[in-house]
Amino acid sequence: MDFLTLFGIYVLVVLACIALVCKYSGKQQSPFHTLFNFITKILAPVTPKWLQKWSQKSMHSLFHERSNMFIYLHLVLEGAVYTEFTFEVFNFCREMETALTSLCVPYVLLIFKTCFFYLCISKDPGTVTKKRVVGQVSIYQYDRRMFHPGVHCPTCQLVKPARSKHCRVCDRCVHRFDHHCVWVNNCIGALNTRYFLLYLFSVCAMAGDIALLTTDMLLHVVLRSGLLGASYIDEYDQQQPAGFLFVIQHLFMSFPRIIFMLGFLVFVFFLLGGYALFHSYLALVNQTSNEWYKSRGYFCQHCHPASAVDPLKTPVPEHSKRYFYSHGILRNLGEIFFPPRLPKRKVN
Ligand SMILES: *[C@@H]1O[C@H](CO)[C@@H](O)[C@H](O)[C@H]1NC(C)=O
Ligand SMILES: [Zn+2]
Ligand SMILES: [Zn+2]
Repeated sequence: MDFLTLFGIYVLVVLACIALVCKYSGKQQSPFHTLFNFITKILAPVTPKWLQKWSQKSMHSLFHERSNMFIYLHLVLEGAVYTEFTFEVFNFCREMETALTSLCVPYVLLIFKTCFFYLCISKDPGTVTKKRVVGQVSIYQYDRRMFHPGVHCPTCQLVKPARSKHCRVCDRCVHRFDHHCVWVNNCIGALNTRYFLLYLFSVCAMAGDIALLTTDMLLHVVLRSGLLGASYIDEYDQQQPAGFLFVIQHLFMSFPRIIFMLGFLVFVFFLLGGYALFHSYLALVNQTSNEWYKSRGYFCQHCHPASAVDPLKTPVPEHSKRYFYSHGILRNLGEIFFPPRLPKRKVN
């Protein structure tokens, strides 16, 4: 295979990954699921029983039980990117006299990101407990469309406050439940949505900044080498201008790891950028992703029979009607960054 085919495949794979994840993120029946089920079905007769059991168990524990696997994966990927940046890109940039301050920005961002990441992992998302449930119920009114008064969680045996949901992974009800995030191994809810938003933005900033510095370095390398104006002798002994593709090939051969990292960073930047924008939109209109999915009918009664047997439920005409309770952008944001305090209980 010649170089250009290889490079074309590389670019296609990166773009295809971005497109696929963007298109299917949040949907229950993604092609990944279908593909995975298909492969397991085909391989079932030829794989030994213990291997099947083991893979099912590990898939289950990865996505349906609390596990730190994705946190470790996150740290490994981040470590790889920062090692590459520190030991290759940083030195090149220093030689090119890029200002030291702009080279330090990624490290400052890393510190911020690590704080937000830690807060997301360790802070309570707003668990509904016996002690707090009375206060939590009083914070939001029941809309009688998605949330109905007087419903008890069958597992926690507590009244469900409006906008709460039982997280099956963590086995608890969470107030203003957004979603369960495997990357931080925690639910995102009333008290940590703010850290989650800041975390998303700091990861995007990190990926974007390192990608920019790396692109700048590669541009400098190309300009300095004079490759753009160079020429080569083809098989008929004719002089040919090197051109753009020749430059790409040169870069790919000289800095394979850096190019790979750049592809990964661009992927992460667009993926998380889109995700961060989606969450900012939700924050601005006072909605959680749980409510967003619900109002668009992503959860059918078939999959969530709990809402179907709710006796207090008033008939919902259609899912098509979008509704949310927005009291203005600033107040919506204020609610996320300064979550309403639980009313102090009177001491009898
Ligand atoms: C957000 O929506 C809830 C209902 O879902 C409402 O009770 C609350 O007051 C709203 N908050 C703001 C700041 O608009
Ligand atoms: Zn519960
Ligand atoms: Zn959870």
